[in-house]
Amino acid sequence: MPTQDQQGALQVALLGCGVVGTQVARILLQEKDSLTRRVGAQLNVLGIAVRSLDTERDAVIPRDLLTTDAHALVEQADIVVEVMGGIEPARELIDHALRHGASVVTANKALLAQHGPSLYETASHHEVDLSYEAAVAGAIPIIRPIRESLAGDNITRVLGIVNGTTNYVLDQMTRHNLDLDTAVRDAQRLGYAEADPTADVEGHDAAAKAAILASLAFHTRVALDDVACEGITHVTAQDVAWAARSGHVIKLLAICERTPAGVAARVHPALVPLSHPLASVGDAFNAVFVEAENAGPLMFYGQGAGGAPTASAVMGDLVTAARNRVLGARGAGESAAANLTLLPSGEALTRYQMRLSVLDQRGVLAQIADVFAKHEVSIETVTQAVREDKPGYAYLVVATHTSRESALAGTVEALKPLAAVDEVMSVLRIEGS
Ligand code: NDP
Ligand code: HSE
Repeated sequence: MPTQDQQGALQVALLGCGVVGTQVARILLQEKDSLTRRVGAQLNVLGIAVRSLDTERDAVIPRDLLTTDAHALVEQADIVVEVMGGIEPARELIDHALRHGASVVTANKALLAQHGPSLYETASHHEVDLSYEAAVAGAIPIIRPIRESLAGDNITRVLGIVNGTTNYVLDQMTRHNLDLDTAVRDAQRLGYAEADPTADVEGHDAAAKAAILASLAFHTRVALDDVACEGITHVTAQDVAWAARSGHVIKLLAICERTPAGVAARVHPALVPLSHPLASVGDAFNAVFVEAENAGPLMFYGQGAGGAPTASAVMGDLVTAARNRVLGARGAGESAAANLTLLPSGEALTRYQMRLSVLDQRGVLAQIADVFAKHEVSIETVTQAVREDKPGYAYLVVATHTSRESALAGTVEALKPLAAVDEVMSVLRIEGS
């Protein structure tokens, strides 16, 4: 196990020198003296592992620190910072580092959502820290507040806008009446969305973050496969316009809930009332709204991505892990002691807004109301508007009281074959009301 050298310096290995790694290296090198004072020991950058030595790098990166031998670096380190991303070799390198007695800081939500429990166990067994503040919502301090500040409270609900790309896309659709494809292209042009934006628009990135948040909030292991996930690919400009007409805005939400029956995590686009704090989170910003029994509602807001903001969260973990090593202490590990029941997605309880195109004729409303009643879905409001573009037809917007997801799905399936129903145009959950 590596230890502080004779001068008391801690050896830091950086795995990855991309968007985030470059900024972590810059802060480590430029703030060296100040970090030494904060930690109580010098943080010495042992080396920076990359895929290729030929890639052009920011001038701030000393070429002699670069290496393609990540294993050798890990074995000499007191603290390993993993910002390479992906599952392998990141998983194997972190595992190797922990077994060698190094503390690990990672920003890798995809890895933690799939392999978190085995890595937390290895960290615990080897009595080292495994920290991941940057893995959820970039710069926003949310992991530590949930894990430590709220450790004595009971969190009942977490509602998060945890994907900046989709928030930017939906915000552009709302503000400028853009369609989804145009807004995604804008996000790519500005560097928010990847060349392949699938993980963002399909909700996979947010689902990984939801799994991490739910596990922490409810002291229960929630894996990526336990998160019901729907992206924003079906959201249309019409949906966004109708949302505004009913006093809502559409957001991609990560929702983690605890009920007397158990816990659940889901990701999907949802109608958020304009009066809710999450409704005003625009551009590529992230925000996490936490409800706890004693604290009540709490809101965390900030930049969820980008090199410097994400590096800020990585550095917070790094300084904490370094201080712990100086003191011979350890931070909080995994807490899965509650081991609550994971509820199937069909059990989710929420309100819905359904938009239908129907024949504008006598008795149609009664027929439709009957289908809702037979499936035990209670209607809260109904709004009708004549379709100017389709004579003889009308839009019907039905908002429900809180209903079971499976009951709503049954209602939709029963409505579709009715002669009076031209089309079920959209079904959106209403959250935060
Ligand atoms: P980048 O793709 O920009 O950088 C990845 C870096 O890792 C590159 O330097 C690359 O080397 C190196 N790398 C990749 N594979 C290997 C390998 N097999 N061996 C050695 N080095 C390797 O990623 P980001 O900086 O954007 O993201 C890093 C992590 O941070 C990810 O887990 C991501 O999810 C997370 N994150 C990112 C955020 C962001 O805004 N970018 C926000 C929050 C979290 P080379 O340069 O030679 O290609
Ligand atoms: N692709 C992610 C986003 C990056 O758009 O929020 C941060 O995890």
